[in-house]
Amino acid sequence: MRTLSDHIFDLVQNSINAGAQNIHVTVEETTSENLYKIIIKDDGHGIKPEHLSKIKNTFFTTRAQTKRRVGLGLSLMDATCQRTGGSLAVESEYRHGTTITATMEHDHTDRPPIGDLPDVFASLMLSTTENKIIWTLEHIFNGKKYRLKNRVTADELNIFSYAESGVRDKLYQLINKKEEKIYR
Ligand SMILES: Nc1ncnc2c1ncn2[C@@H]1O[C@H](COP(=O)(O)OP(=O)(O)OP(=O)(O)O)[C@@H](O)[C@H]1O
Ligand SMILES: [Mg+2]
Repeated sequence: MRTLSDHIFDLVQNSINAGAQNIHVTVEETTSENLYKIIIKDDGHGIKPEHLSKIKNTFFTTRAQTKRRVGLGLSLMDATCQRTGGSLAVESEYRHGTTITATMEHDHTDRPPIGDLPDVFASLMLSTTENKIIWTLEHIFNGKKYRLKNRVTADELNIFSYAESGVRDKLYQLINKKEEKIYR
C-alpha cells in the first residue's frame, strides 16, 4: 500500500526537480479537529500560471518525456485527499516557489498510514550531501513537535557531515526517538 511517507517522498522529488534550495515539510496531526495535514513548501522555480489549472490532472507533466510520459505524483495525492474527506491545494508563484497542502480526515478508514517517516526524513537529510538542499522537516502531533534542520541536527548528532559513515543509523534512531516522544 502507498503510505503517506511514500506520497511525501514523491512530492519532495517535484521540489528537488524544481531546483529548490530550501524545502520545508510539515506533517501536522490534530485529532481534536480530526485533521491530518501535510505541507510541502519549496523555493524552486514554481509553476507557470497556465499550468497551474492542469496540475492535478492525471498524466500532466512538464518532465522531459524521455522515460515515462506521465506525471502521477500530484494526482495520486489528490485522489487520496479526496477519498478521505480532504483536499489538495497547490499554490505557486512562478519563479519563486510552491506550496502543496494536503488535508485528510484523521480517522478516515481510507487514510493511508504514515509508514516509515523516520526512514523518509533520514533519506532526505542524507541526500543533502549531493544536492545541498536545506531541509526543515517537522512532525506535530496535537501540538507536540520535533523539527529537523540540517545544521542543528548535525550538531545534535555530533557529526561534522552527513557523508560520514554510520550517520544513517544514528539519524534514524534519533528521529525514531523524537517520534516516540510526540506520541507519548
Ligand atoms: N514543487 C513543484 N515545483 C514546480 N513544479 C511542480 C512542483 N510540483 C509539481 N510541479 C509541476 O507539476 C507537474 C506534475 O507533477 P506530478 O508530480 O504530478 O508529475 P511529475 O513529477 O511530472 O511525474 P511523476 O511524479 O510521475 O514522476 C510536474 O511535471 C511539474 O511541472
Ligand atoms: Mg512528481
